[in-house]
Amino acid sequence: MKVYVGMSADLVHPGHMNILNIAASYGDVTVGLLTDKAIAGYKRLPFMTYDQREMVIKNIKGVCEVIPQHTLDYVENLEKVRPDYVVHGDDWKTGPQKQTRERVISTISQWGGKLIEPAYTEGISSTQLNGMLKEIGVSPVTRQQRLKRLLENKKIVRTLEAHSGLSGLIVENASVKKDGRSVEFDAIWESSLTDSTMKGKPDIEAVDTTSRLQTINEIFEVTTKPMIYDGDTGGKPEHLAFTVRSLERLGVSAIVIEDKVGLKKNSLFGTEVEQYQASIEDFCHKIETGKKSQVGNDFMIFARIESLIFNKPVDDALERAAAYLDAGADGVMIHTKNKSEKDILEFCRRYQDAGHTAPIIAVPSSYNKVYEEQLIEAGVKIVIYANHLLRAAYPAMMEVAKEILRNERSYECNDTCMSIKEILELIPGTK
Ligand code: SPV
Ligand code: MG
Repeated sequence: MKVYVGMSADLVHPGHMNILNIAASYGDVTVGLLTDKAIAGYKRLPFMTYDQREMVIKNIKGVCEVIPQHTLDYVENLEKVRPDYVVHGDDWKTGPQKQTRERVISTISQWGGKLIEPAYTEGISSTQLNGMLKEIGVSPVTRQQRLKRLLENKKIVRTLEAHSGLSGLIVENASVKKDGRSVEFDAIWESSLTDSTMKGKPDIEAVDTTSRLQTINEIFEVTTKPMIYDGDTGGKPEHLAFTVRSLERLGVSAIVIEDKVGLKKNSLFGTEVEQYQASIEDFCHKIETGKKSQVGNDFMIFARIESLIFNKPVDDALERAAAYLDAGADGVMIHTKNKSEKDILEFCRRYQDAGHTAPIIAVPSSYNKVYEEQLIEAGVKIVIYANHLLRAAYPAMMEVAKEILRNERSYECNDTCMSIKEILELIPGTK
């Protein structure tokens, strides 16, 4: 008899063993192991790669074969394997997997196959183990490599700014349920604007690299998600070499350096302030120096093209993209301060027409009506929400400060604040 079991098997626990034992009692077990892409489509990317998960499952007693299951839906594999039995825990009778289950039943009934649904094993769950793993943390190498894995497996890598341990925890833990899927941020943006603003300093490379590295450390102490670092201009090429190595050592996945020279000002000022774009030649030299200085293969350097910020045409941005990629950049960031995404989308289209495949980063701060789906369609691989947590926090804090001044007591602002109980319980271990 042929038995089919579909699973992700990232954090293998007694519940999985129970299913596999029962499955083996019906016949020869084929495990349809969900690929990274299949899993990433509906929840976070697994901790273990497909190959690592395959190795674990292959070696479990009673498992005869492991084949990839490329979608959450079983039908394609079922038609290939034509099993007499499918075994799955009864927890999918309700909730988001209900339809998948119905499609399994109707498919296998075509050849008289049966669905066996052992009772869900209480007491231990992947969700629980996930939480525990987050507490254990992540090694610098695993964290660093995760960005490339996300780029390979996600339609878009959704990235949010953090500027402190606490905001890092929000990027790490914020999650909403949408159509049964859990939606989260994939990565952290260490923004020069918000790191500087947090320290009460202007975004002009006045916060030195040592201080920025300290912020990264604070964020890394309490999170596991990969980080993209806003490297401003990258400084002098000789200095960039040190920055790259420091970031690499910490487990940061990528640096973005922008093609500006002189005193850097925030891009969202555009031509309102005096700032200058670097020559293609000089910036290529900087990229080459950065790439030469990295120790391993996993770290990435993105070249940020500021042409549209300087009101130059898309052609200029494309010419620079080609040169920067030639110099060794692992991808590009294209930025604008326009309220329309038109130029960004045009850039993306022509970039791909030119045959470039290196990932594009977009930062929809000013053109904020654009949906992720439109960016995905345009070929953007990383979207960065670059400053929103700090922009949300500051007005809230200012309002509470004023409320206390107005009333000469804090009672009136009590409801706008989280409760004392909540803040005491926010960080585990406070009690
Ligand atoms: C940042 O977040 O610091 C950035 C993006 O560089 S922007 O502020 O839009 O220039
Ligand atoms: Mg910046």
